This record gives sequence, structure tokens and C-alpha cells, in this order.
Amino acid sequence: MTHLDSTSAAPALELTTTSPTVSVIHAASDVAREWWRTAVIYQVYPRSFADADGDGIGDIPGITSKLDHFVDLGVDAVWLSPFYRSPQADAGYDVADYREVDPLFGTNADFEALLEGAHARGLKVIADLVPNHTSDDHAWFQAALAAGPGSAERARYLFREGQGEDGELPPNNWKSIFGGPAWTRVSERAAAATDGITDGQWYLHMFDTRQPDLDWEHPEVRSEFEDILRFWLDRGVDGFRIDVAHGMVKAPGLPDWDGDVAMVEGSSEAPGAVDTEPHEAAEDGSTGAGNSGPMFDQEGVHDIYRAWHKVLAPYDGDRALVAEAWVEPLSRLARYVRSDEMHQAFNFSYLTTAWDAAALRGVVTASLEASDAVGAPTTWVLSNHDVIRHASRMGLTGAAVRPNGIGKNDPQPDAELGLRRARAATLQMLGLPGSAYVYQGEELGLPEHTDLDDDLRQDPAWWRSGYTEAGRDGCRVPLPWVADAPGYGFGPTGKTWLPQPDTYKECAADVQRATEGSTYSMYKAALATRRAKDLGLGSLGWVEDFASSSSVLAFVNNDVLVVTNFGEAPVALPEGAEVLITSGPLTTTGDRTGVPQDTTVWVQV
Ligand code: GLC
Repeated sequence: MTHLDSTSAAPALELTTTSPTVSVIHAASDVAREWWRTAVIYQVYPRSFADADGDGIGDIPGITSKLDHFVDLGVDAVWLSPFYRSPQADAGYDVADYREVDPLFGTNADFEALLEGAHARGLKVIADLVPNHTSDDHAWFQAALAAGPGSAERARYLFREGQGEDGELPPNNWKSIFGGPAWTRVSERAAAATDGITDGQWYLHMFDTRQPDLDWEHPEVRSEFEDILRFWLDRGVDGFRIDVAHGMVKAPGLPDWDGDVAMVEGSSEAPGAVDTEPHEAAEDGSTGAGNSGPMFDQEGVHDIYRAWHKVLAPYDGDRALVAEAWVEPLSRLARYVRSDEMHQAFNFSYLTTAWDAAALRGVVTASLEASDAVGAPTTWVLSNHDVIRHASRMGLTGAAVRPNGIGKNDPQPDAELGLRRARAATLQMLGLPGSAYVYQGEELGLPEHTDLDDDLRQDPAWWRSGYTEAGRDGCRVPLPWVADAPGYGFGPTGKTWLPQPDTYKECAADVQRATEGSTYSMYKAALATRRAKDLGLGSLGWVEDFASSSSVLAFVNNDVLVVTNFGEAPVALPEGAEVLITSGPLTTTGDRTGVPQDTTVWVQV
């Protein structure tokens, strides 16, 4: 624990006892049940984690070579973003063969070796399943193009006639989440599909043109995916993260929709727009992170998950389904994790909440209430491969800024502020009961790459938005492992598929591991304490002593008091308080320890 010498005026806020008055809103459980209820799950983005073959792109043997990193850090499970055969039009979220590892990442045998190595270390492995759409290279889609209108092959996708005299207008007005229309017209002259002439039907793609949406009313689509689940379950995967889990079923008739379909705020309606207003905590925890409209969150989607629940149930080891569903309010999201459906859902309302005590109290309360009502664990997440890394996001001016990427000419984050808040936010998150997700590199304090050359960008959102949204490449840059090696030790040749900024040197894993007070050591200490004190199964009681303060958030989970100070005046801890972990330097005034602004501490109670 680091103390700053300070004799500044007495702090404006203080806690006088380590047994404060609390309002318990979530009771502790004394029964350790399925592993996923409390797991801390580490997201690996395979192309950027570690490169074993030296081509500059991360791969499965690279991940296997770093399994001890997960053990040292202290996480319970690893989720791998897609590694299947794919033309990589959306970095693997465009799958051409769901049963085969892409040669870019290795072989199926490599994956089995990874699984074996992980299991030998007590780590669970979650695969990523992309059922809303396939790649246009998928055999089904190629067959659909060749077979023509009205064919059985086309019925697996959402092909429709266009509007207008010659069908020259798209079937409806839906927009792609990446920008531009959600429909592409094809040629009906077999083998001519690539000559650029479009005179035929249109197909729906909620994402890129190369990601045609499947028609989930089709029984073959349903049985194929159940079979794919079994294929990987048989090989031993412990669960699946389900991509766009709220999008598979569309409203009958595909009615027009004038609303926004953006994945992140500021996306398609007003490209590049930045929201600088602090968000008030809505009673139900909503932050504007939810997608709505006839293409999302339709009732019929739940039948799919009830069926999948039954596919997983006979397997041993409590296999799990995790919903990536940008749905609000949280009570609506909780419907995906009812006891006969999926097991967890990402809490994007939490991720998108402003750095604000009242807003966070609101969203945490709403999250626990919503998931408790259906008997599911709450999850917490601050970063992933689709959003600006929280060490940079939280350094943007304004309380609730979340543009889709940061480009050279955009307002740049305050790196120091961002990291300080990110560490405080993470320490707060890891003190909450339930399950938590960490995204590769956040344990190193990694910032977003915010000045990538535009011609290097690979996210389809960049060009589909008419070059107005930088997109997600900045959070997908290859990890730094060794400060003094070429490519910061990403692979044996120094090649990296995106360049790493110079700031990655101090974030390199070897430096972080060896530095006292580093972000890595904070994560490691928090994860060890979280495990030792069973915080995942723990309780949540708000400390009412601070109820009227808009600048402090404090709660008790089991025997740990978590205090975050958002305000300028330090918060004095009770005399003799035993600080277990702090996200940053503390102050000392007389014999009282103070928690400065944008700092979280864990205190023994
Ligand atoms: C999900 C993924 C994202 C991908 C999209 C389309 O939101 O997280 O990376 O682009 O789905 O598959």
C-alpha cells in the first residue's frame, strides 16, 4: 500500500467505523454452485494475444504457451473470440466453417491441446459461437447464391425481392450496425455473382455485406447449430459465448424501422458524435446501451435458448451459455438467463455507465435485482473487443463518452486520468458479487491505440460508416509481453498485424509483473483476495453513511468494505483501518488514511 505524505486540511468526508450501517440488497450465498456463478473470465482475442508461428497474427499455440499467465493472474476461465475458418471480413465473426480452426490460428489438434493444457491447470474454456449470420464464404451461402430465388438453399437465409419497379430498392429500410444499408443485392446469373452485376434478390446482413443473416425460422438452421454445439461440447469446451444473442429472430414481415441500430452510442445516427453529458442513473439501470427494433430481442429467440439449454444439460461439468445481448432494461436482459435458458449475460448497462457514484449505485442495484429475480448471477464487464479500452475511455472528457473508436484527429483521452479511473473502476468491479469479465491487456493497464494510421484500419465499421467512425481496431492491438523485445515479445519475429504504440513498453507483461504497485499487481492481488474471501458468492450492502454524498460509493461484500471516491476531497477511513488493496496512492492526515479522488480501496471489516 502506498501512502502519499500529506498534511492537507481535514478531509470533507469520513467514515468513522469499519462496521458502517449498510442496506443489504443482495444476500450472500453459502452454497458454492456452478462455477460460472462466480467465475472471473478472461477474454482472449486470438489474433492479438500471442503469436507462436511468427506471422504477426496471434494463434492458438501462442495462447497455449501463455496458459500460466492466466494462472498467475488468478482468473477462473478463458473465453476465446472466434478462431474458426473465416475470410476474416469481421475478424473471425464471419464464420465459413464452424467445426474447423482457421489455419491462421492453427489446427483442431492445436485447439484440443489448448483445452487439455487449460483443464490441467483448472481453467475453464469458453468458445464463441456466431449463430446470427455466417460468412458469405460458408457453403450454405455459396449454395444459396448458386441455387437462385425460391430454392431450398436460399430459405436458410433472409433473401427477399426488392421494392420498386425492377426490385432496385431494398426490401425494407434497415441499416447495418456497421453503417450503410442492411441489404445487398445479388446477381441471379449463376457464376456471375462476382462480376459486380446485381439484378436479383436482396439478402439481409445486420453487419457487413459478407455476414448474411440466417433465417432462424428454418428447422435446418436450428438443427445445424445444435449439432455444432455438440461438436465442441464433445471436445470438452466448458461453454459458449453467444454472439448477437438478441438478434437471431426477426419480427414477422421484416417491418421498416426508423430507430437507431448502433452498437455503441454515437454510432450510426450521428457518426463520431460524443456525448459529454453525465448520464443520470435510470431507475431500471438503463444507459442507452440496448438495441431495439424488429430485428432485436424478439420473443421467439427464447425458444432457441430453451432448446440449447437442453443440449448442454446432459454434459458433465456445468457447461454454460453466455449471452452477448445488447438489451435494456436489465429486467429484459434477465429474461435470457431464466433458469431454462442461458446461464449468464454480459452486463453492458454497467459497462456504459458514467463514472459517477449515483449512476453506478443505480446500475449495480438494478443489475442485482434483475438477475436475482431469475436466480442467475450478475456479470460485470468494463472492456471487450468492441469498445474503447476503459483505461482510455475513462480518460475522455465528459462523464459518459463512448464513441466508436478514437482516431488521430479526435479529442484524445487523458491517459493518466483514464488509467487512474480504470484501476479504481476495476477494483470496484472485482469487489462485486457475481461473475466478472476482463479483456486481455487490461491487467497490464493497456490503453487504446488512438493514433493508428487510417490506412491500417481493418474494422469494417471504418469504411461502412463512410470513414467517420474509427472503429474497433484500437482495442485489438497485439499485446506487449516483453518490454525490450521486437514487437514487445508478441511473437518470435517482432511482426504485429497492427503496430503497437510506444506507450505499450511500460505496459509489457514482464515490466508489469516486476513492478510493485503496477496495474498487474493490483489485478493479481484483487483476484486472490476475491477468491480467498469468496466475494463472488458474497453479499452487497450499500454503506448508508455516504448515501447523501454524490461523490462516494461504498459497499460491503462479506468482510470487505469497498470505497470509491469520485470527488476532490479525500475520504478519511476509520482510524486503524486495514487497507487490503488500493487502486492508487493514498493520503495520510494525522493518523487517518485518506482515499483520494478516483481511487478505490478494499478495507477489512
Ligand atoms: C458481436 C461481436 C462483434 C462482431 C459482431 C458481428 O457484437 O462482439 O465483434 O462484429 O457481433 O458478429
